[in-house]
Amino acid sequence: MHEPLTDADDECVSNDKNSLPDLTIFISDLFLRNPTVLASGILGGSYGQLKRVEEAGAGALTTKTITKDPRTGYINPVFVDLGYGYLNAIGLRNPGVEQFSIELSKAKKDIMIPIIASVGGTSIEEFTYVAEKMVESGSDAIELNLSCPHVGGYGLDIGSDVKLTKEIIKEVKSISDKPLLVKISLFHSNKDIIEKFISAGLNGITAINTLKALAIDINSLSPVLSNILGGLSGPCIKPVTLAVIYEIYREFPDIPIIGVGGVEKAEDAIEMILAGASAVGIGSAIVRRDLEVFTEVTRGIERFMLENGFKSIKELIGYIHRR
Ligand SMILES: Cc1cc2nc3c(=O)[nH]c(=O)nc-3n(C[C@H](O)[C@H](O)[C@H](O)COP(=O)(O)O)c2cc1C
Repeated sequence: MHEPLTDADDECVSNDKNSLPDLTIFISDLFLRNPTVLASGILGGSYGQLKRVEEAGAGALTTKTITKDPRTGYINPVFVDLGYGYLNAIGLRNPGVEQFSIELSKAKKDIMIPIIASVGGTSIEEFTYVAEKMVESGSDAIELNLSCPHVGGYGLDIGSDVKLTKEIIKEVKSISDKPLLVKISLFHSNKDIIEKFISAGLNGITAINTLKALAIDINSLSPVLSNILGGLSGPCIKPVTLAVIYEIYREFPDIPIIGVGGVEKAEDAIEMILAGASAVGIGSAIVRRDLEVFTEVTRGIERFMLENGFKSIKELIGYIHRR
């Protein structure tokens, strides 16, 4: 194992510009200056938040999941730090697509890195409606949220109906030529399901969303979250994320994967890339580490590549499959 990669070592990375490895990558048609992506739901709800994450060094941005109508979400508590990870049930709180379109149009005028619009819905019509508005407002790609585990009628409730999901992918794909990503959960980690989604026209996979989970406070004899069930994220789900990435890449090596779930430091990101991810999403780590996590992860990957003689990030993608 390598020593943890820290900022303190960065001088030697930036001294010789000529020898810097190439961290740029395409996810379908999206050009990323580095493989870090803001995951959906943590910031990403306004122009100002998106701008801050761009300035912090991310390679691409995913918006909060946006629905047709505004949603107020659940009452507190909606988020808890379990020590080994996080449990949340925010309830897809968002201002609705009309309001958010204004933010997205502003963001597009000023932000140079790709913006992926996360779209939620309860039907083919809703998904298509929201996706169309997002494309009109300038989003560079669409990500379908088919995997949020704790909002009735949305996310996994829709995504676990494979036939319906295929139709949603087909319809949304037909409205524009922007890359279409599908955000999946552990449930979808099955060759037949992924094959069906690919045949419906997706251009990339974001894996994974949070995992349905429960925390109980024995002192109050009650669930911790107001919604009772929530979504588990952070370090404890990283091995699950890695297995999903590994299996998808093994079966479908040409489909770009954004690996999300438990990335806190460069080593986590490198593991995901070695398993088959082309880029990595960062969500919960922003809560614990703040926005510098994007630059730290990017510099750590760069340093790892220098130390191990990799010239391009593309050489690392799926490396463990070729050993
Ligand atoms: C507070 C919070 C809100 C989230 N909201 C969304 C969302 O709106 N849409 C979505 O697709 N995923 C959402 N997620 C899931 C994340 O995008 C990500 O898939 C998951 O948290 C695993 O990554 P992480 O361990 O880096 O957080 C949310 C996660 C958290 C912690």
